[in-house]
Amino acid sequence: MSIEAFKIIGGKKISGELSVEGAKNAALPIFVATLIEKGTYILKNVPNLRDIVTLTKLLESLGLEIEKLSNHSYKIVNTGLKSLEASYDLVKKMRASFLVMGPMLAHEKKARVSLPGGCAIGSRPVDLHLKGFEALGVKINIDHGYVEGETAELIGNKVVFDFPSVGATENVIMAAVKATGITIIENAAREPEIDDLCNFLVKMGAKINGIGSGRLEIEGVKKLYPCEYSIMPDRIVAGTFIVASLMFDGDISVKGVVRDHIESFISKLEEMGAEFEIEGDVLRTKTKLSQLKPAKATTMPHPGFPTDLQSPMMTLMCLVDGTSEIKETIFENRFMHVPELNRMGANISTDANMARVTGIKNFSSAEVMASDLRAGASLVLAGLLADGETIVNRIYHVDRGYENLEIKLQALGANIERIKVEI
Ligand code: EPZ
Repeated sequence: MSIEAFKIIGGKKISGELSVEGAKNAALPIFVATLIEKGTYILKNVPNLRDIVTLTKLLESLGLEIEKLSNHSYKIVNTGLKSLEASYDLVKKMRASFLVMGPMLAHEKKARVSLPGGCAIGSRPVDLHLKGFEALGVKINIDHGYVEGETAELIGNKVVFDFPSVGATENVIMAAVKATGITIIENAAREPEIDDLCNFLVKMGAKINGIGSGRLEIEGVKKLYPCEYSIMPDRIVAGTFIVASLMFDGDISVKGVVRDHIESFISKLEEMGAEFEIEGDVLRTKTKLSQLKPAKATTMPHPGFPTDLQSPMMTLMCLVDGTSEIKETIFENRFMHVPELNRMGANISTDANMARVTGIKNFSSAEVMASDLRAGASLVLAGLLADGETIVNRIYHVDRGYENLEIKLQALGANIERIKVEI
């Protein structure tokens, strides 16, 4: 059996502009939100990713008709749901599938969704999602690996999250928009993708106050209306490309940057000595890699340093003279790129959720393996700089969150190709 890998012959100069596609983590909940109300939706700036294909199959199994109109636009027709069960074989491929529970409860007051598996980076429980649904009056039963939820009526209530979970916030928002009465979510996650979901729902006629704050007030309405919407740009892809720009001494510019979406990340880079010029949505780096200084970073819920940029930042820190530190506080096991980077000559030691990175002159090429989508992209970046041949295995992880990565890099002059390897 064969799977795909990237073969990179690194160490050569590359330059040009990397453009950022629509945000995966906004597109997924917005696609799911079309379950809430019948009608025809047009979604634009949707990224071409494996996760979108996976979700499309799940939503079609529930009864939605989904048509790809052009490279980045979709038409979704909801004529009512033909099933209220999201099966394990679909949910296990992508845990964000669990987001279908809130909309199904809003639409039919009933849902049966497979518990999502954990994944490489953590156990990924859904207790906060279920706590939110129960607060809205849903009776929850867990049976043979499935979560069953049912209620005669969704009643607005106060939901206080112990942790500002992105998915739990999104699921409860989507259940609450048609509940009877007002729902208050305290300690709601504040990631920009949640603002995008809320803006989409408001365009459908939902009443949501406090968007962007940690306290959301949702007044349920009887009916919502389908609409047309364009997805925000992907801030994590933007951050990944900004690291590439810094690694190549500013010879790469990045199109599709919204500084506000990744302020903590950009200001940490500036603390390291990076200088940027942002004109409109195009970022240019004005410093050379050798000018950067080490730093300490800690991943936090938004607006803190994003966990999804932890591994790209680590790749950069490997190349900065001195010792940097990066602490991961969101997921319990998100350092699996460390041994892979060390195979490429990096000098990283870890102690629990703390990684200590001592700068090296350059990576050395090696065969490595992606463990999650962001780690995979970080290994690709390292391979572009390392002299010789780097093979990045299991790039199905990378394809989940980066659109045509090798094609974009080839356009900059990178020697990277997609190959098949026997396993
Ligand atoms: C979203 O995952 C993103 N995925 C992740 O991006 C991102 O890393 C994460 O938010 C944090 O920003 C999508 O949006 C599709 P969480 P999600 O619920 O919603 C714990 C990527 O690279 N938790 O905020 O699953 C959980 O175990 C992916 O694109 C509970 O304990 O994140 C984790 O430790 C990776 N109980 C922490 O909270 C719950 O009920 C953060 O999880 C829910 C979560």
